[in-house]
Amino acid sequence: MKTYFIIGHRSGIGRALAELLLQRGDYVLGLSRQPADFSHANLREIQADIVTWDGSGLPEELDGLVYAPGSINLKPFKGYKIEDFRNDFEINALAAALTLQKAEKALRAAQGSALLFSTVAVSQGMSYHASIAMAKGAVEGLVRSLAAEWAPAMRVNAIAPSITDTPLANKILGNEARAAAAAERHPLKRVGQVADLAHAGLLLLDNSWISGQVLGVDGGMSSLRP
Ligand SMILES: NC(=O)c1ccc[n+]([C@@H]2O[C@H](COP(=O)([O-])OP(=O)(O)OC[C@H]3O[C@@H](n4cnc5c(N)ncnc54)[C@H](OP(=O)(O)O)[C@@H]3O)[C@@H](O)[C@H]2O)c1
Repeated sequence: MKTYFIIGHRSGIGRALAELLLQRGDYVLGLSRQPADFSHANLREIQADIVTWDGSGLPEELDGLVYAPGSINLKPFKGYKIEDFRNDFEINALAAALTLQKAEKALRAAQGSALLFSTVAVSQGMSYHASIAMAKGAVEGLVRSLAAEWAPAMRVNAIAPSITDTPLANKILGNEARAAAAAERHPLKRVGQVADLAHAGLLLLDNSWISGQVLGVDGGMSSLRP
């Protein structure tokens, strides 16, 4: 039985991962701003904003950490205000780095593994994605740097999803026509479901010979031109 810390366990991909881990008998410590609407004997929750979280409540040992908060704030470049860039950087990259600093001791104690989230918009230039691509580009740099620095004791990887049906993507997938258009843009002709991402996340958490990788789980978006 292992112990995982999931930041963003309340909804979306973080929730799907928490449910998979609980189903296989692991312990989950979940942190979100609001309490989850599900419970489990092996789930303990911390209610906090990860940007200001002081690091309290961590167990002595962590087999895995998942950092799943993020933002989708798409607009023409000239429309971005300095607060947009700062907020996107803070929640996607800076808070992830500060969380990993706070959890390092517990991860080291269990030779654990960390999983972060990027986006397909880092490797593919996409209009209106400048701010999120900047922030997630920083996440990818962090993943590779830290994977080198922490090897061989701990592993660090990321998933770069394309659009996935979660509360975060609601603005983009919120009506049928937009959802159908989004599906059509993908070589595999559908948008992502949380299970697609959660199973890939589990693979990266579990596989002891993968580190420093950014895995595209994106319906073929980053590499296929059918
Ligand atoms: N969905 C997509 O299309 C897509 C595409 C590319 C990349 N990604 C990335 O994939 C990751 C997961 O996305 P998702 O779609 O599953 O997101 P989501 O549905 O919005 O879930 C995010 C989770 O993080 C928590 N959270 C958000 N801000 C927080 C904060 N400041 N402090 C503590 N907890 C916070 C949320 O709970 P509370 O609201 O209760 O805090 C929620 O549990 C993100 O990094 C996102 O950037 C997603």
